[in-house]
Amino acid sequence: MMTQHINLQLGWPSPSLFPASQLLDGASSVLQSEKKTAAALIYGPGCGYEPLRERIAAWLSTSYSTTTPISPERISVSNGASANLGNILSKFTEPGYTRRIWMVEPSYFLACPIFTDAGFEGRLRGVPEDEEGLDIAFLHDALRKVETEGGHPEVPQAKTASARYPKLYKHVIYAVPTFANPSGKTMSLRRREELVRLAREFDALVVTDDVYDVLRWPEGEDGDASKMPPIPPRIVDVDRVLDGGVKDEWGNAVSNGSFSKIIAPGVRTGWSEATPSFALAMSTLGATKSGGCPSHLSATFVEEMLSSGQLEAHIRDTLIPTYRSRYNTLFKAIDEHLVPLGFQVSIGNPYEYHPAGATNGHSQSAAAVAGGYFTYLTIPSDVALGAEDLAAKALDKYNLRFAHGAMMTVEGDAGSVERAGKGYGRGIRLCWAWHTDEEIVEGIRRLAALVKEVKRV
Ligand SMILES: Cc1ncc(COP(=O)(O)O)c(C=O)c1O
Repeated sequence: MMTQHINLQLGWPSPSLFPASQLLDGASSVLQSEKKTAAALIYGPGCGYEPLRERIAAWLSTSYSTTTPISPERISVSNGASANLGNILSKFTEPGYTRRIWMVEPSYFLACPIFTDAGFEGRLRGVPEDEEGLDIAFLHDALRKVETEGGHPEVPQAKTASARYPKLYKHVIYAVPTFANPSGKTMSLRRREELVRLAREFDALVVTDDVYDVLRWPEGEDGDASKMPPIPPRIVDVDRVLDGGVKDEWGNAVSNGSFSKIIAPGVRTGWSEATPSFALAMSTLGATKSGGCPSHLSATFVEEMLSSGQLEAHIRDTLIPTYRSRYNTLFKAIDEHLVPLGFQVSIGNPYEYHPAGATNGHSQSAAAVAGGYFTYLTIPSDVALGAEDLAAKALDKYNLRFAHGAMMTVEGDAGSVERAGKGYGRGIRLCWAWHTDEEIVEGIRRLAALVKEVKRV
């Protein structure tokens, strides 16, 4: 057994990357000011610390190059994307009314229990990912089928009128459109638009975890960062402008953002962006009304990091160069040790960027952009073991951990399990964020040694 444990499953930033001193600066600035302390140590406003809402709105407006600025009224401060998904479900869904939860598969498996906690056990359904990010025809057919089944309760009148449910959606569609967890794929603009239209047609809420978008760099060692196209618009950006804008005051998309991957998971601060009515409704959750915004003190420290420019500097000068180096190291090791053994890497179609004013046919390929945390490999067809068994052997004999396709099925959906058996179940997910370059190479060497050994048997 190798002594050092290598964990390529863990989707966490390594502690060496935590911006502790910048957070300390932020904390000092808040706690040494009587005025800021008074605002920081009291219950937070329902939609969150006002200066942070303003900073996030301004930062998102520049990060996503939106045509019109994002207003702070669209932002609601959260205690991270995970908890906020539960909060969104509490406010805008009702198991007696909302019919299905649709999840892109292979799925971010840790989202499944959040849906079942909200009462949707047995009603989660997978939607296969394709090279453009989501099989829209599959989703359309499946939605239509559920709708024609009939027997669905209408929204009880009392509920539509009550503050508890200002709006209920019939369906929820969950996706990670940019640098997806687990596949690493980025959804095309065409699919994003199709998804918004579908959501409007079927009264669905598209919830996206947009937690990796800004962690991006040019593909290759010498790629020029200044030549990268802008970050793809989130589904919420598309909903804001497509076909004349949102269908009603609630819209059909909410973006779940987080500081977990760009500051540190322990700060438990994030935000959601949706229409102003949607954001305001988030502040009426019972627990928020009683306890104030779910993330408050650390939100004030985060605000200091944003306003001082330290957050952007940290992303630009520490996170991106480190992840870029680890990514390049990982892919070099994959090319050297795994591709010759028959491993396949699928990153989907490159995102096509349409510069403003360009007509059809004048798009630019954004193949040159890489980012996020993960990549997904398919194990060689001549390996008799499935990915799950391979992962168990890797842990047992090589002290190496990685995530495997069977983990990525949609909980309780037999169709998703069946599709895993035919395809994505033979995949493994590798993360480059936790380990150093040297450890990543060591992990890939161990994986190659294991596969060689298994092939010989
Ligand atoms: C897609 C996705 N959503 C949410 C999270 C967790 O977000 P948070 O730490 O803000 O709860 C992760 C972290 O791995 C993730 O990959």
